[in-house]
Amino acid sequence: MESRDHLFFSCHFCSEVWQATAKNIYKTRFSTSWHSVVVAACSNWQDRKICYLARSVLQVTVYTLWHERNGRKHGEPPNPASRLIQRIDKQIRDQLIVIGLMGDRRYDDGLLIWCIWTNSHFILNMLEAFEPSLDLSKHMGKGKTGVLSIELQRMEGYDYSHKNHSADTRINNKTCEFDGSQLNHDHVSFSSHDLLDSSLQTHVPLVDVDKVRWVLRNIVRDWGAEGQTTRDECHKPILEELDSLFPDRQKESTPPACLVPGAGLGRLALEISCLGFRSVGNEFLYYMMICSSFILNYTKVPDEWTVYPWIYTNCNSHSEDDQLRPISIPEAGPSSVGVTKGFSMCCGDFLEVFNESSQAGMWDAVVTCFFIDTTRNIIEYIETISTVVKDGGVWINLEPLCYHFADILGLENEISIELSLEDVKRVASHYGFEIEKERTIDTTYCANPRSMQKNRYYSVFWTMRKKCAI
Ligand SMILES: C[S@@+](CC[C@H](N)C(=O)[O-])C[C@H]1O[C@@H](n2cnc3c(N)ncnc32)[C@H](O)[C@@H]1O
Repeated sequence: MESRDHLFFSCHFCSEVWQATAKNIYKTRFSTSWHSVVVAACSNWQDRKICYLARSVLQVTVYTLWHERNGRKHGEPPNPASRLIQRIDKQIRDQLIVIGLMGDRRYDDGLLIWCIWTNSHFILNMLEAFEPSLDLSKHMGKGKTGVLSIELQRMEGYDYSHKNHSADTRINNKTCEFDGSQLNHDHVSFSSHDLLDSSLQTHVPLVDVDKVRWVLRNIVRDWGAEGQTTRDECHKPILEELDSLFPDRQKESTPPACLVPGAGLGRLALEISCLGFRSVGNEFLYYMMICSSFILNYTKVPDEWTVYPWIYTNCNSHSEDDQLRPISIPEAGPSSVGVTKGFSMCCGDFLEVFNESSQAGMWDAVVTCFFIDTTRNIIEYIETISTVVKDGGVWINLEPLCYHFADILGLENEISIELSLEDVKRVASHYGFEIEKERTIDTTYCANPRSMQKNRYYSVFWTMRKKCAI
């Protein structure tokens, strides 16, 4: 039976909307019981802006849910929770903007706080969805045996525009696969409640904060409408090349197998499977795997989530609006893209996972996109690619050769080998590859389309074929 308490907010649908909009603000005061919510909203909030946001989000959510309820009563089609959450998000932002325009500057950073909370909401949901659950206390130190092992190790990372990372967190040689379902890994536990405890943040190394921001930017590249241009520049030529190289793949009893090392958030590997390949994306960065798993396995509708990827830098910005603009993801629901049976993500270090003898000659195609310069020793990558590609198979590569470890000494004064394109091709030839096609592709990488600074890469794009053994 409908009652006030049912609607606000014990009903499953309403509680989903309320949680999404209010949990990060109310933190430990959060509740779905109307009485407790009213007590919390009327209580003392030390910070004026947070107090405003807490009360405002309650008012807007109540209004939105009541409006939805009336619409349904009058036969209008129901809106999914994600749409209502987006409406509430927009309403709060609009209110804050209007307050500023009216000359009241007291809530100026309220908008920024709101955007950060919206990002936290997305991140918490991502972490909560990761099955089995994660114990983030283990994230604070070295990986422990018997659980998903995370190790901090010196490396620059993969950020093409910022060469200042000193460490990276990666999954240590663990393979996790999801075949249109979920990642599997050893059991670990995690409570999102702990994350709302602000003292926890003091333990998070800045380098990890930076990684999370970097993942948010990669989300735009792989899953945002704004990333379409860069996907057209990078993914399209690869997909067209695969399409033309394997014209009879649909007729074959077993579709050709394609491996995508350094798959990032998985979009390219997924698109390759949609072309009718068995496609495996390989990725070692824990953050990337959690995020791609969430988008691929847990998003139900296009534009389900809102994030603010551009709020973390004040540089090169035309306007505050540009910085504070929301991005809806995924621009196409993975289910509408078609998470096919032939698609999986394999988690672990490419060199460790694919140097197994069982992988030798297993792949009809290897596709690398902005990947082969992510190592200190590019020769090892080329050797491994040559081992896994079958005789007569192909290696398609798009790469600007930024060399992530350039000028960064490793733990034991390990150096980085930075070969020129000519030398890289020589090494590839040594490992049995012959160039069939080569051209330059002009593209950006995770650049903010509205920034005054956009790095462009004049990347080499090639198709090489592995010579048949005589
Ligand atoms: C520059 S990003 C490119 C991602 C994706 N290919 C794209 O074009 O958007 C390189 C990716 O390779 C991953 N990576 C780097 N070294 C790796 C390794 N040894 N094994 C697996 N993945 C690796 C990084 O975590 C990162 O996601």
